[in-house]
Amino acid sequence: MLTSEKIIILDFGSQYTQLIARKVRECGVYAEIYPFSINPEKLKELQPKGIILSGGPSSVYADDAPIPSFDVFGIGVPVLGICYGLQLLAYTKGGAVDRAARREFGRAELLIDSHDDLFKDLPSATNVWMSHGDALTEPPKGFTVIGHSDNSPICAVRSADRKIFGVQFHPEVHHTPLGNKILGNFVRTICKCREVWNAESFIESTIKIIREKVANDGVLLALSGGVDSTVAAVLLHKAIGEKLHCVHIDSGVMRTDESKTVVDLFNQSFNISVELVDGTDLFLERLKDIEDPEQKRKIIGKTFIDLFEESAKKYKDIKWLAQGTLYPDVIESLSVKGPSATIKSHHNVGGLPDKMNLKIIEPFRELFKDEVREVGRQLGVPDWFVKRHPFPGPGLAIRILGEVSKQRLEILRKADDIYLEEIRNARLYDEIWQAFTVLLPVSSVGVMGDERTYENVCALRAVTSTDGMTADWYTFPPEVLAKISNRIINEVRGINRVVYDITSKPPGTIEWE
Ligand code: XMP
Repeated sequence: MLTSEKIIILDFGSQYTQLIARKVRECGVYAEIYPFSINPEKLKELQPKGIILSGGPSSVYADDAPIPSFDVFGIGVPVLGICYGLQLLAYTKGGAVDRAARREFGRAELLIDSHDDLFKDLPSATNVWMSHGDALTEPPKGFTVIGHSDNSPICAVRSADRKIFGVQFHPEVHHTPLGNKILGNFVRTICKCREVWNAESFIESTIKIIREKVANDGVLLALSGGVDSTVAAVLLHKAIGEKLHCVHIDSGVMRTDESKTVVDLFNQSFNISVELVDGTDLFLERLKDIEDPEQKRKIIGKTFIDLFEESAKKYKDIKWLAQGTLYPDVIESLSVKGPSATIKSHHNVGGLPDKMNLKIIEPFRELFKDEVREVGRQLGVPDWFVKRHPFPGPGLAIRILGEVSKQRLEILRKADDIYLEEIRNARLYDEIWQAFTVLLPVSSVGVMGDERTYENVCALRAVTSTDGMTADWYTFPPEVLAKISNRIINEVRGINRVVYDITSKPPGTIEWE
């Protein structure tokens, strides 16, 4: 991103590292995450106005503790160490640490001893979230204690030149209600960053970058119907107009009228033409008799590529493929954590760029989902669309457990329509990250009227999440669930039992396959 007002976050493996970046960006200041193992030359090249050290699960005294190979406190810009970052500060600068300290996990009351800078405009006591093992018993030489709690005599410290700070608690999490203010004080007051990061400035600078990069080449974009590819298309169209070629493939495993909604939106609201490819028959033919989830995903991915490649042949000027990759995917590949096991092979148009000799353009590589939504709003994408729940590339095929058939697709579509309609009627749609129905390969006995039935079981799934990486099952008001169940059983032929999924992620995943 082209901004000189930048904060760099060094990741020491905390589950909250992404949250730090999001919270700093909410303050209007651009933040990027790098692994703690970044080399010092690269770090200096980035010209940060400040550095934040994340927390992490290790003790700095462990053999394999993540310790940078250089003095991160000596780069010459202000540094804030959070939790593990504070331990690292003590380790580097020589404070005393109680390694046998009682683990502290949960809410604590921070009592502020100095309101000068980091805690400017905060009350003298405020709730904070603690999650640590080792604890400081003596600040490093030249450091002053600026906050304590009943349990921890040293909760926050500051260097004599007021450039290095450390906090034992997590200002980035929701359970530290004034955490935004603390991070805001660090980035604005201490690092002196101006608030220049917002959706408008992103759009303006990205359009410039796209124009320079692409020049007169054509760009191909696979429009999935999701928020990311839709907003990417509108942004690219603004940047390069008719040089953008959008293709939408109807895989036949979409929800009711999904493809029509997407194409209509582009034609009517944006005057962008979209080539619609109907792949229903081919997808269903290739999915016939397939029950294994990974095989389904692979077949769908390959079929997308085959059809996409076929239709792309028409556009002779294409040199680029645009993708809606988001920042969390990028961070995953940079993370200090080892490569995680493949739980599911996520489908996108991977494989295509090499095959067709295309270069990749990813305008949202640096954005979080909620930022893409804001960019979408600024570009005039209607609110109802921007707020749509994520929908997976393999569509309903991974929500029909067992074999996918036209008949089962029809059953699931009807149940899904009712489910989402009732969620919208109850005004709960925006509270939920994702809600959908799953058709199980299980029949159960029921009684309707005076007759015995033996039909399918349908599961309802609804979760809250901030990025899809972790999720909690959603607590519906019981009367809403009752109405949904009642309507599905009465109105959808083929379903006689409805169950609700109460599994969080982890250990479950959001989708069932
Ligand atoms: P899981 O099921 O892995 O899903 O917890 C996390 C998020 O990713 C979505 N998802 C996909 N999105 N292609 C996509 O574009 C896929 O193959 C895919 N699989 C899962 C899922 O809906 C959830 O939002």
